[in-house]
Amino acid sequence: ALRGSFASKAQKSSQRSQYHLNPQASYKVAILGAAGGIGQPLALLIKMSPLVSALHLYDIANVKGVAADLSHCNTPSQILDFTGASELANSLKGVNVVVIPAGVPRKPGMTRDDLFNINANIVKNLVEAVADNCPDAFIHIISNPVNSTVPIAAEVLKQKGVYNPKKLFGVSTLDVVRANTFVAQKKNLKLIDVDVPVVGGHAGITILPLLSKTKPSVSFSDEEVQELTLRIQNAGTEVVEAKAGAGSATLSMAYAAARFVESSLRALDGDADVYECSFVQSDLTELPFFASRVKLGSNGVEAIISSDLQGLTEYEQKALEALKPELKASIEKGIAFVQKQP
Ligand code: NAD
Ligand code: LMR
Repeated sequence: ALRGSFASKAQKSSQRSQYHLNPQASYKVAILGAAGGIGQPLALLIKMSPLVSALHLYDIANVKGVAADLSHCNTPSQILDFTGASELANSLKGVNVVVIPAGVPRKPGMTRDDLFNINANIVKNLVEAVADNCPDAFIHIISNPVNSTVPIAAEVLKQKGVYNPKKLFGVSTLDVVRANTFVAQKKNLKLIDVDVPVVGGHAGITILPLLSKTKPSVSFSDEEVQELTLRIQNAGTEVVEAKAGAGSATLSMAYAAARFVESSLRALDGDADVYECSFVQSDLTELPFFASRVKLGSNGVEAIISSDLQGLTEYEQKALEALKPELKASIEKGIAFVQKQP
């Protein structure tokens, strides 16, 4: 069973709850874009979760083969496949968590914002269907640019009259996964021990790892802070360049998304001690959306953890102020995209 395998020791040690696996747990998860580079390994990881009773795989093509293949794994969840717009509504009925990795990935030389023109429409159309068919579900947005696609989703849900800010999440888990890995490597720590909060957004300088808040407490030289921060901010580009035109991070992303799904299901299932970083509607700063640690509960975001932004180092404080104009512009671009449509 995968339960708990995604959480770091630092996260687990803060989990004082009496939560135990509910053998009757049976949640339904849908992946929109399930035949893609992220969708396939993500489907495999979710197929291994004991909390899932049904996994709905939706894509515009190639999903039947993925579903047939996956359905032979002898884990409890049932696999159902849905192809094309005419089957989208049925893929969403009765679903508790919808994960959206649909859309095009970057090629070398592109920014995430260069994906806006294609992915904005894809996310808009898919979230309209979510609003119509499972408005109460947790919605996990992976499609880039996350800094804009999450505001797009929020506007669509508002127009449909079903927006619940506690249940709309931009998936920034990969930034935390990377920060944990790079810090553990640099400081020779056991990987399982390390937990670094990453705040802001999910693109370039808007990705702000709060190294001073690393658990367990670690001290970094100024050079180490500079080097680690840049590596974490550019890690997506590192993968895009290594793949040399064949796409962006898919396997590490699937791992990160599976962790976020598992945390969401645990929260839905009554675990009272689930914390993850996510890009959500937030009053932590003057920006309407901001990534930070949040406490997850059965109704979604139960609390936004404000203490992480207190007592920042001068470097972090400056980086926080520096990221705001770009993040604000990306959020506004997403909102305007939906509002300007007839
Ligand atoms: P991919 O091209 O391998 O797969 C995308 C899938 O989406 C394809 O199977 C495609 O058929 C499907 N798709 C396209 N339009 C669709 C629609 N209207 N409805 C349903 N499915 C549709 O790409 P990928 O590598 O899986 O990346 C997907 C997205 O995730 C990209 O936008 C990428 O930038 C983003 N991403 C985000 C993060 C993150 O940290 N949030 C990390 C990695 C990638
Ligand atoms: C990532 O961080 O790996 C993703 O956002 C994909 C990308 O374009 O870098």
